[in-house]
Amino acid sequence: MSKPTRAGRFEQVHAREQGAWTVRDPEQHGRTVQAMFARIAGVYDFMNHLLSAGRDRAWRRNVAARIDGDAWEILDLCAGTGDLALACRAAGRGRAWLAADFCPSMLRGARGKKGADQLQLLAADALALPLRDHSVDAVTVGFGVRNFADVRAGLGEIARVLRPGGQLIVLEFFRDDPGARGQLRGVAAPLRVAIAAMVRMLGRFVGRDGGAYAYLPASMDQFLTAREFRDLLAEYGFSDVDVERQTLGIAHIICGRLP
Ligand SMILES: C[S@@+](CC[C@H](N)C(=O)[O-])C[C@H]1O[C@@H](n2cnc3c(N)ncnc32)[C@H](O)[C@@H]1O
Repeated sequence: MSKPTRAGRFEQVHAREQGAWTVRDPEQHGRTVQAMFARIAGVYDFMNHLLSAGRDRAWRRNVAARIDGDAWEILDLCAGTGDLALACRAAGRGRAWLAADFCPSMLRGARGKKGADQLQLLAADALALPLRDHSVDAVTVGFGVRNFADVRAGLGEIARVLRPGGQLIVLEFFRDDPGARGQLRGVAAPLRVAIAAMVRMLGRFVGRDGGAYAYLPASMDQFLTAREFRDLLAEYGFSDVDVERQTLGIAHIICGRLP
């Protein structure tokens, strides 16, 4: 398959052949992602902390700190094993926490964690949420938007369920952007290559799923840059869009607010 043009990247993201996985249509993509997370659900938390050297905890705390103190209902999309929703709860942000994910095996991983009895777990696709318009104060997405078959459809749903003035806070690994400066610049290419190799190796030997852990660096390299994602948020009506590098730009937090 030919390489997408820059303009077509949003629509074609994930539609290229990449190492261990090939996805050509959105429905198939959703099923592939769901099955992949179901396979690794049991080792997900352990691998997350290992691969990020424990930094993922601080990144989630930084997301929580961004949420308005008077936010009531927080929707954590692509919630996985619940750590981001739990970080918001632990930080005293929000009064009600809805953790939504389309992979029930991942959601089951939240059970037994401190504060998990306060979360409402919802098995749902972020691209077609069973929620009323303008019903939540803040949406958080940790390492989720990169998996969407259609990023625009996901942002449309988020804008639909957020109340006026509501916040979106995204934590993500974005594609490298050599032209970017300051907060928008991620890790430099050689460090990125080294991290990708480590993720593949540890995924294969420790996580016991080479395919799933080859997906992480491959999907990072296909996804939008932080700059492109920031511009896309503005297109969906988000203002005050702010980007914050996490740990040398390995990850970024991007926040916006609806008018
Ligand atoms: C990398 S995990 C992130 C989990 C968690 N947010 C964290 O911070 O560790 C990505 C999660 O997104 C979920 N996911 C991907 N696409 C989704 C979609 N369209 N709707 C709902 N969940 C989705 C996967 O099932 C998986 O649990």
